[in-house]
Amino acid sequence: MGLTGYMMWNPIATSRILPGEFIPAAKAAHGAEAILAVLAIIIWHMYSVHLKTFNKAMWTGSLTEDEMLHEHPLELADIKAGVIDQPIAVAVLRKRQRGYYPVAGILAVVMLAGVYGFVGTEETALTTIPIQPERLVSSYDPQTPTPLPTFAPTATPEPVAVADLTWQVYIGPLFQQKCVMCHGQLGGLSLASYAEAMVGGQSGTVILPGDSANSVLISIQAPGNHLGQLSVDELILLEEWVDAGAPK
Ligand code: HEC
Repeated sequence: MGLTGYMMWNPIATSRILPGEFIPAAKAAHGAEAILAVLAIIIWHMYSVHLKTFNKAMWTGSLTEDEMLHEHPLELADIKAGVIDQPIAVAVLRKRQRGYYPVAGILAVVMLAGVYGFVGTEETALTTIPIQPERLVSSYDPQTPTPLPTFAPTATPEPVAVADLTWQVYIGPLFQQKCVMCHGQLGGLSLASYAEAMVGGQSGTVILPGDSANSVLISIQAPGNHLGQLSVDELILLEEWVDAGAPK
């Protein structure tokens, strides 16, 4: 219990010598041994000294002859033989003391130094961890509001150069993509080719070159709700194309 107690007292010093698993192992051994010691006192000592016979020697300093016969028969025999309290010869005593005092003194000093050293080896495991000031200041991070969703970025359309504002380069492909699935298959106005587009549909010409204001092509798209609808930017370019004379 002493050894495991010191191991738990100085876990860092212990783990310099032994693997770290020895610390919890020492705790388990220490606790189990403590339970064993308590049980031994309660069961063994209680029964022998208080229940079997009540031993009053602690207060009276003596036992009955019957108790001596059972517990200390050799001492009883010495008492009866009259040899128990013979004084030891002074020479013998001196000889024993000459051996005992130096050995006991040295051992006591060494053990005390060992206890002092082990007890003072380390501070607690907590104080040996370096304190980080910024951790002390803010260990609490307040919840931050979730930003509202924003519109996903859309690609900025490539500006169309004036030179490119022709049926060939821009208008034709635009109609191909957004109009021809209807105007080119179903009869009536066809926007599939320049010639057909300039001819117009049932109500006549839809493109008046140089006059976007009166071109049906523009006015039918202007409200923004045609079955095939151009974007605002595309419609502006279409207007510019018509006003520029609808170049091929
Ligand atoms: C989903 C099919 C569909 C698409 C796509 C479509 N249109 Fe139309 N468009 C129609 C129908 C149907 C009419 C006739 C009824 C009307 O006037 O609304 C029409 C009529 C027109 C007219 C009038 C024709 C006339 O003779 O009076 C023009 C001009 C026109 N569309 C232009 C366009 C343009 C430019 C596009 C492409 C940006 C386009 N349309 C895409 C279905 C479509």
